[in-house]
Amino acid sequence: MHTVKKICDETKLKGKYVLLRSSLNVPVKDGQVLNQFRIARAIPTIQHLVDQGARVILIGHIGRNPEESLKPVADVLSETFLVKWAGLLKGDVIDRMRLELKDGEVLMLENLRSDERETKNDESLAEELAAMADVYVDDAFAASHREHASVVGVPAIIPGYVGINFYMEYEELRRTLKPEHPSLFSLGGAKFETKMPLVEKSLNSYDHIFIGGALANDFFKAKGLEVGKSLVSDIDLSGSDLLNNEKIIIPVDVVVDGPNGRRTISPEEVTAEEIIFDAGPETIKLLSLYTRGAKTILWNGPLGNYEKGFAEGTEALAKLVAESGAYSVVGGGDTVAAIESLGLSGEFGFMSTGGGAMLAFLEHGTLPAIDALKKGVVEK
Ligand code: 3PG
Repeated sequence: MHTVKKICDETKLKGKYVLLRSSLNVPVKDGQVLNQFRIARAIPTIQHLVDQGARVILIGHIGRNPEESLKPVADVLSETFLVKWAGLLKGDVIDRMRLELKDGEVLMLENLRSDERETKNDESLAEELAAMADVYVDDAFAASHREHASVVGVPAIIPGYVGINFYMEYEELRRTLKPEHPSLFSLGGAKFETKMPLVEKSLNSYDHIFIGGALANDFFKAKGLEVGKSLVSDIDLSGSDLLNNEKIIIPVDVVVDGPNGRRTISPEEVTAEEIIFDAGPETIKLLSLYTRGAKTILWNGPLGNYEKGFAEGTEALAKLVAESGAYSVVGGGDTVAAIESLGLSGEFGFMSTGGGAMLAFLEHGTLPAIDALKKGVVEK
């Protein structure tokens, strides 16, 4: 990444058309943005470009449904910048708006995924986007693990820079690859099959790895315990070395719901009709032994089903990490939301805007977007 030019060092941008790809995928309900964390982190790069008198063409994606609109994000950004909302991704109207754009103004295009060529990494879309600008800036760390046209296609066509948020993510996450000891890595969420390589790799660098969220269910199941109707992954850990690895910590009590109501029990007591939703207080007590005195804490993914309201385990861990004095790096939408709701953001070393992108970077030490920026323009 050190060979990639940083946009914050570039001052000759006056009058230049800059295509800026940001992470603008935020939760929206009834046209209102529910969480502005990612937008706040997109602002420094936009501000720099505006201050330099660039003509900014801002692109991003939102949601999984191609019909979702970035308009609510444009409305939020309009409070800070002169944003012209295009409402479209391509066409004559955009060509005209682009020509009318003045120095320091922002033209914001509609959801990239409204065009199916984006996720297919179709070169024709990359060419259309690149044709709008003199240079490209990638500030979309959260989408950097995706081989999509706006992320890997465009920097092969016009000169690319890394944005302020993206570079900060890179520097902070790189620090966690070689943690200062004692170190703790807490991994939650679901789909162990996608996270197993990272766990195996992290066993070489971290002193302890806590497996929380639905990932823990796979361990319980492999140990022959009843997990009832709990969420499990498409992977069978029976016989895996991970089960007896002393570095790995799993919950010692769980919060379940089912015919007997909501109760906190030992993992051995779960019945066939119950669902495990969270880690219990004994687990938090156990975790406090590792957070206290830790020099590095890396955390991605909630301990419980945050969306269904099982936030206690996650919030309790957030408090422990905040009090620990460790260099702490945290990522994943639900985990960051829990920390923000407690007003503890300031106590964390770094909060990543990435979920899957953070995990992919930790696993591979690079990402498709980084490789594309490093490679630069490919002559045809
Ligand atoms: C994001 O914005 O969080 C990432 O791009 C992940 O979203 P996706 O899984 O829909 O790509």
